[in-house]
Amino acid sequence: MSSSTSAGPLRRLRRLRGTQAMRDLVKEHDFSLNDLIYPLFIEESIDKAIPLTKLPGIERLPESALAQETKDLFALGIRYVMPFGISHKKDAIGSDTWDDGGLLARMILTIKEACPEMIVIPDICFCEYTDHGHCGVVHHGDVDNDESVKNLVKQCITAARAGADMLAPSAMMDGQVLAIRQGLDDAGFKQVGILAHSAKFASSFYGPFREAVESELNGDRKSYQLDCANGRQALQEALLDEQEGADVLMVKPGTPYLDVLANLRRETHLPLAAYQVGGEYAGIKFAALAGALDEQQTVFETLVGFKRAGAEFIVSYYAKQVAQWLATDR
Ligand code: PBG
Ligand code: ZN
Repeated sequence: MSSSTSAGPLRRLRRLRGTQAMRDLVKEHDFSLNDLIYPLFIEESIDKAIPLTKLPGIERLPESALAQETKDLFALGIRYVMPFGISHKKDAIGSDTWDDGGLLARMILTIKEACPEMIVIPDICFCEYTDHGHCGVVHHGDVDNDESVKNLVKQCITAARAGADMLAPSAMMDGQVLAIRQGLDDAGFKQVGILAHSAKFASSFYGPFREAVESELNGDRKSYQLDCANGRQALQEALLDEQEGADVLMVKPGTPYLDVLANLRRETHLPLAAYQVGGEYAGIKFAALAGALDEQQTVFETLVGFKRAGAEFIVSYYAKQVAQWLATDR
């Protein structure tokens, strides 16, 4: 059948696009602050915030500023944060992470004390706490999976004891979700959830993050993170995490892997998340600073894109800025 007749097009889709009211009526996806998690970079033993040159607008905050920042974020409408610690006590295994007086535990305690309603979902890994920068224990030049998993469980119990609401393990060790779930349950933390970095790719988009956390890494993480070419293996990883007891499955980075998110949406009924990583933020930010695009429109477009692809929520360095934009638009 032809798509037009003598009277014109067979169907006039522009009817639904003519006014803002009509566009709002048929809108399929939207986002709000209920869908955004804001990552925080917290450094111990410094007294002034350090601006991150590769993530303009984002700072590494001194630990002493965390309580006030938490209150400011909550006042802006941000209800979910993901703290990353920048350690000054690095060692070969990242033992500070399972010390009840260590940086990870202190960050969680500080946030919860400043604002008990703030939902805290710490990144769970070792790379910010090891002197070699890898995400676990290194034996014979590679990260030892099962040793690292044992330590991840210790880290998780410490984080739960400090008051974390949910944990976001990002080390990409095999079996980490199962071991963490069992460890939490055995320690009495049955209500503490797992936001699994399920499909985490070895990505160049992490470049700015490595500066942000002063990563000591030489080399790469290709022996544990996914190959960027492998969409099916990403589904396998994610579905295994579901079997192992994850509460939410996350795809990371976001934009280059929207196909993985969309495919995963068809394979599971768990909530899904996307992590809009440093390189994605930087790409938009530097283009906006050069005047090449409208920053707010672009950011909103990416957030709707994650929702459209199947994410319930998004971890983004833009979350605070989005809250400010929404506050001034209102
Ligand atoms: C490490 C970790 C990384 C990110 C979050 N946790 C980086 C990496 O694997 O090198 C990346 C976040 C970002 O790039 O914004 N476990
Ligand atoms: Zn790591």
